[in-house]
Formats: sequence, C-alpha cells, structure tokens
Amino acid sequence: MRGLDGAVVVVTGASSGIGAEVARRLDQEGAALILCGRSEERLGAVRGELTGAHLTLAGDLTAAEEADRIVVAALEWRGRIDGLVNNAALDHAAPLLETSDAEVRELFEVNFFAAARMLQKCAAAMTDDGGSIVNVTSRLATIGVPTMAFYGAAKGAMSALTRGAAIELAPQGIRVNTVAPGMTRTPLYDAWLADLPDPKAAEAEVAAKIPLGEIAESGDVAAAIAFLLSTDSKHITGANLPVDGGYTAA
Ligand SMILES: NC(=O)c1ccc[n+]([C@@H]2O[C@H](COP(=O)([O-])OP(=O)(O)OC[C@H]3O[C@@H](n4cnc5c(N)ncnc54)[C@H](OP(=O)(O)O)[C@@H]3O)[C@@H](O)[C@H]2O)c1
Repeated sequence: MRGLDGAVVVVTGASSGIGAEVARRLDQEGAALILCGRSEERLGAVRGELTGAHLTLAGDLTAAEEADRIVVAALEWRGRIDGLVNNAALDHAAPLLETSDAEVRELFEVNFFAAARMLQKCAAAMTDDGGSIVNVTSRLATIGVPTMAFYGAAKGAMSALTRGAAIELAPQGIRVNTVAPGMTRTPLYDAWLADLPDPKAAEAEVAAKIPLGEIAESGDVAAAIAFLLSTDSKHITGANLPVDGGYTAA
C-alpha cells in the first residue's frame, strides 16, 4: 500500500452513512474507489459528489459471486487492489429470546459471511506491495447491550477474524485492523432513534453516557479508517481502534 493518493480502495456500504463519508474522505485524498452498495441510485448520488475517477458497483454482498465480481471489476479497471473498507452491515435489535434462526442467519450473512468473503477475495488479489483492510465493527463487539446480542456476536466474530487474518497475512505485507464505532449519526442511527418512544430524551441519555459527551459524526469514523488505510499506520496490524468517545474505556 502506498499513500492514499492513487491507491485503489474498495468501499462496501458506500451508498450511505459512514461508507459514504469514507468515500468523500478518500476522494479528497486522491484514492481511486470502487464504491459498493445495494442501491444503484444511492451509490450514484454519492458518486455525484466526488471529484476523482471512481467505479460504482451495485449488488447484494450476500450473493456468493458478488465478492468475485467486485474484485474482477477492480482488477480490470486499475490492475490492482490496495485497500478494502469492509463496512456494509445490517442493524438488528430484538430481544434475545424472541430472535429466530432466520433472523440470526440473515444478520450473519451480511455482517459476517459477506464481509469475511470480501476480506478473503480482496486479500487474494493484493500484490507484493501488500495492502490494508479495515473491518468496521462496533462498540458492541466488546460490550453487551440488551437486544443487540446477535449483532454484537457477528461484530465480535469479525474482530476475531481480523486478529487471525492480520497474523496470517502479515508475511504478504497485508495489514488487517478494525475500527469500532460507538453511536454515530447516520441513517442507521436515525432509524434506530426514530423507533424509540422519545427520541430526544433517548439521544440525551446516549450522549450523557459517552465520556466525551457527544455522539460521533460519520467524519470522525472516516478519519480513523483513512488513517488505518494509509502508510501512516504502516506498523499497525491486528489492532482495534474504537471511535466511541471513550465509551468502551469506561
Ligand atoms: N451508525 C452507528 O451508530 C454505528 C455504530 C456502530 C457500528 N456501526 C457500523 O458502521 C458501519 C456503517 O454503518 P452506517 O450507520 O453507516 O449504516 P447505514 O447508513 O445503514 O449503511 C449501511 C450500508 O451497508 C449497505 N448494505 C447493507 N446490506 C447490504 C448487502 N446485503 N449488500 C450490499 N450492501 C449492503 C447499504 O447499502 P444500501 O444503502 O444500498 O442498501 C449501506 O450502504 C456498519 O458496519 C455498522 O454496523 C455503525
């Protein structure tokens, strides 16, 4: 992986929230992006805000062939892949004992299996120059919260995969790290808030529990991801970088 100027980076979940903000940030830093998400329209809207040359690829990552399709398209376009931001995910909140097998499977299909496949396929396509993979997990990979046990379990599985992959891929110069956001203002967060009986009170309650006193903006998470992709972090692998205002340190 060189610096981010000219780096070829795949960003999943680039059509919304944190992924869209990562796209804006990496565009400013001169990277060539393969922007992935399900909605062609939303991807197009993000693409329209960017100035560099980028590719959009709409598709569902739970389809087994999607990761291969993305890698082939990236290699045909630029001949290499330097980075992956493994960010696409589903939210899931439901009482533990009322969660069905089908719901758990759907959650793991997106938040673990699809992300794991992307990691494997992109790492296999990286050259002797190595590369950097950033898996976006969650504070819930580390701590337990009622109704979020299965979501946390899938994110925890990505954390364990990150550590193992970091060790196994280190000889090829491929670094693998996680960024673990806390509550971050995105459409996912807005939808969660809107479902609560008193969103304003809930937001104040959430902010009060964060040592730095504020809910993160998606740019805070994008900055951490850009750092872990870049050569500034060239000696960091297998690490977790929480972006949660100190929540999991308390
Ligand atoms: N926001 C938070 O408070 C928070 C906290 C902790 C961790 N995180 C993590 O941060 C990451 C980004 O979250 P966000 O808040 O930015 O979420 P978001 O706004 O809901 O965006 C999710 C993205 O994932 C894509 N996606 C979902 N399922 C997909 C599938 N099957 N195939 C392809 N793409 C799929 C969506 O594509 P479409 O829009 O095209 O459907 C969208 O681009 C996630 O990993 C999330 O778990 C977020």
